[in-house]
Amino acid sequence: MKPKLSVTLCGIKLDNPTVLASGIIGNTGELLKRAGDEGAGAVTTKSISLEPWDGHPSPNVVELEKGLLNAMGLPNPGAEDFVEEINIAKQGDAPVIASIVESTIQGYADVISILESSEPHMYELNASCPNVKGGQDISRSPELAGKLVEKACGVTNAPISFKISPDAGKLADVARAVDESGASAITAVNTLPAKAIDSKANLPVLYNKIGGLSGDLLRPIALRCVSEISDAVEIPIIGTGGVSTGQHAAEMISSGARAVGIGTAVWHHGVGVFKKVSNELSSIMEKKGFESVGDIEHGI
Ligand code: DHB
Repeated sequence: MKPKLSVTLCGIKLDNPTVLASGIIGNTGELLKRAGDEGAGAVTTKSISLEPWDGHPSPNVVELEKGLLNAMGLPNPGAEDFVEEINIAKQGDAPVIASIVESTIQGYADVISILESSEPHMYELNASCPNVKGGQDISRSPELAGKLVEKACGVTNAPISFKISPDAGKLADVARAVDESGASAITAVNTLPAKAIDSKANLPVLYNKIGGLSGDLLRPIALRCVSEISDAVEIPIIGTGGVSTGQHAAEMISSGARAVGIGTAVWHHGVGVFKKVSNELSSIMEKKGFESVGDIEHGI
């Protein structure tokens, strides 16, 4: 019998554990729908702010040997315009997670209030962007993280995932604070602040100087963070960071993740990567005699 790939995340059924991570092709409803049609178990929007944000000038992406460094600066059309994109994304089969960013706790709540009319299946609080001023402050403070989640829970009944920074330090404390404040899940992790130098010019490559590191280089760090968080709280984790194969997905799940975010691998390999990861995961499970994804939690 074929292993069962479906998982339940905060009461939402995903056909498989792969989730399109925020920031990659999540800019429009059509692209989000496409990722779902191509096999993503759920899809996350690019982070949405109250007003339109322009983002940073280029250069804003650097390809590294085993990773990607980017500092887009969270460009997005703002909450009012994104309502329609979520409506379009929801015409697909994959549940839609709306990623939210703002510069104040009240701002996050205001964005959610506007998006409520489109009824996304879930919200993700991007409180850990390495590329905007103060972007990681909330994720570094258990107190602020708890306050943000409490405020967000006050304006929606949809489940809320808190996206945590790998650079947060007190990961377990932040995880416990958001759990106690009503978060339904934790997305672990966001990109890690990093820097690349142009050796000829001896200057930072990125306009923003600092960018978020993702891809293979991030995976061992993400696995460690997922383990730490899963030891601290019971709420489900969307394990995100450098996953591009079924083996990587299995490692995330055996480290404590319920679902697996995929971002940079879509940049490198295209949207076909969701089916590839699911098929590879299914083969691994079949070889081990696992019937459902939950069986991986105890080890591979
Ligand atoms: C950007 C935002 C992020 O949260 C991230 O991890 C990387 C890049 C950005 O838009 O700059």
